Amino acid sequence: MNILHIDSSIQGEQSVTRSLSSAIVTHLRDQLPDAQVIHRDVAAAPLPQFSAEAVLADPAVAPTPSARELTMALEEVLAADVIVIGAPMYNFGVPSQLKSWLDALAVPGRTFRYGADGVEGLLGEKRIIIASSRGGFYGPESPMAALEHQESYLRAFFGFLGVTRLEVVGAEGVRMSPERADIAMREAMDQVSRLQAA
Ligand SMILES: Cc1cc2nc3c(=O)[nH]c(=O)nc-3n(C[C@H](O)[C@H](O)[C@H](O)COP(=O)(O)O)c2cc1C
Repeated sequence: MNILHIDSSIQGEQSVTRSLSSAIVTHLRDQLPDAQVIHRDVAAAPLPQFSAEAVLADPAVAPTPSARELTMALEEVLAADVIVIGAPMYNFGVPSQLKSWLDALAVPGRTFRYGADGVEGLLGEKRIIIASSRGGFYGPESPMAALEHQESYLRAFFGFLGVTRLEVVGAEGVRMSPERADIAMREAMDQVSRLQAA
């Protein structure tokens, strides 16, 4: 069992998603002691953004350092059975560092392909667990619902890549008040404790 653990919060020790993603990995490891874990922190070590040098260069002929970095991120995903992703909401979407990591994954022939019947995602065997946190509330009944481009984007993105098992552990309203933050965190940790190991 290979677990890939991704963090993307810029808030260091104060980060809710880092606390949650780390609790998720610990919970899985307690039940799967032989699991191998790779941790990638895309806030501390951001991947290159898309550029002609990073993406358009032919890696078989002359792999540039940027192209090699993006390929390594992709290989980690392909080798993983479970991918735990710390995904904060920043300005209604995911952090740009997390977007750069996602950009490294959408590679035709590796994670999806075009066939006679349209697009086929190739990551159907992977399990994804998102550790989400937001300052406000974005539920379907909320007036803010139309601004929710974080969890919905991740669901759509990984759905395109063929993922069917995507779970979200989420803390909402963490900036509304300290009391609300405590409740959200307790509920999210309770969700973590109920995650199945496999
Ligand atoms: C740069 C920045 C942008 C943010 N943008 C939003 C936002 O658009 N909507 C929201 O509800 N909360 C927003 N927040 C609050 C975060 O979603 C909240 O602090 C959450 O806990 C972030 O995850 P983290 O603690 O792991 O960094 C923002 C926070 C930061 C630092």
